[in-house]
Amino acid sequence: MDKFIINGGLPLKGHVKISGAKNAALAIMPATLLNAGQNILYNTPQVNDVYTMNKLLNNLGVETDYSGFTLKINTSDITSQVAPYEHVKKMRASVYVLGPLLSRFGYAKVSLPGGCAWGPRPINLHLEGLRKMGAEIELDDGYIIARASKLKGAKINLDVSSVGATGNLMMAATLAKGTTIISNAAIEPEMTLLADYLTRMGARISGAGTAVLEIQGVDELYPADITNLPDRIEAGTILIAGAITRGCITIEDVDPAHLASVISRLEESGAKISIKGYSVNIDMTDIQYINPCDIHTSIYPGFPTDMQAQWTAYMCLAEGSSVVTDSIYVDRFKHVPELIRMGANIQIHENSVTVKGVKKLKSAKVMSTDLRASASLVLAGLAAEGHTEVLRIYHIDRGYQRIEEKLISLGARIERVTSTEY
Ligand code: EPU
Repeated sequence: MDKFIINGGLPLKGHVKISGAKNAALAIMPATLLNAGQNILYNTPQVNDVYTMNKLLNNLGVETDYSGFTLKINTSDITSQVAPYEHVKKMRASVYVLGPLLSRFGYAKVSLPGGCAWGPRPINLHLEGLRKMGAEIELDDGYIIARASKLKGAKINLDVSSVGATGNLMMAATLAKGTTIISNAAIEPEMTLLADYLTRMGARISGAGTAVLEIQGVDELYPADITNLPDRIEAGTILIAGAITRGCITIEDVDPAHLASVISRLEESGAKISIKGYSVNIDMTDIQYINPCDIHTSIYPGFPTDMQAQWTAYMCLAEGSSVVTDSIYVDRFKHVPELIRMGANIQIHENSVTVKGVKKLKSAKVMSTDLRASASLVLAGLAAEGHTEVLRIYHIDRGYQRIEEKLISLGARIERVTSTEY
């Protein structure tokens, strides 16, 4: 099992390119199940969650060719509609195959995802929406078994603006008979890209990028190609790496509009930010201290929950107290005890933490518990003086493409080593 050894305390400097978005790739890949033929996704990140989705698609009979960052997906010969537990337990996004398989083949059997590292993550809205579209759904032996000879259009209001439910129901609705209206739909850029991709396949979707989607079902969809978005969470994480080390870095190949909430908070914390086209520079070299700055996570375009752990690490070094509240996931604070081991002063109260800034973080051996928690520990390690070890970095490899290589190119001293420690 790999770990990172970080010798922190160096300001990062330089330029780095951001990879394609993991969460967009994880939605686009299963969408190809709606057609029969060769699809291409450009700018696919090389991360373990994408490899897991790739294997799941292969298991359904899909042929894939993954060279460089171009992923070719051939859906001409699908042989199974079953997503087994062994795949779903590794990655909850596997449930995205449910809508497309059911809509195209009239049947899908998908393992029900369990809890995740930081608490329950239900999929009731996915199932309720499909039921409204006429699906018969039963749970048997840990599996969702869904049947519908032909899904039919329905009016679906999502009680919570769920990314996954929006994606699954939008995909299912493309081949349904009649019109589906999804209100309170997620407007995250990954969902807008999915709507764009489905439209390229021949789907009739209006309202993409708004909270009300209207999908008129069609009889057939066709193969299509699309270029993935830049990963806004990887981009935000690396901006914080520049800020927390008091460095000066430029991230390239990003969409600054997707980073607006993170950029405005970084500016409030004192960072100088300049944006040119698809690049964002952050300069903290002349800044005396980091201003404490509260955040409250919310749906897009609010501050993303996927940046909450990294922001918490950053606020550990602010001059004063800040409150970090996660309104999307109430219990996503598994990084906090590990940050405390590095000298942070943090108290947890229900779905928020109070972070009292300290002068320095201290190096320590710390353990990753999930993807974004591990990113926060890497950030803390980059800022801490001395030798920090971050264990169980398979979590970070799920969603960041060789993050150590990007950080090394910015001057960080971080090394991946194989370890027998768990
Ligand atoms: N929710 C329900 N019922 C549902 C679905 C969701 O109550 O049927 C609740 C969830 O419990 C949560 C909220 O709705 O409180 C939002 O969950 P959502 O469905 O939007 O999350 P998701 O689709 O499971 C995606 C990302 C997550 C990201 C969330 C929120 C992918 C593959 N995953 O998850 O990304 O945190 O949206 O933005 O797109 C990550 O990349 O680290 C990650 C966890």
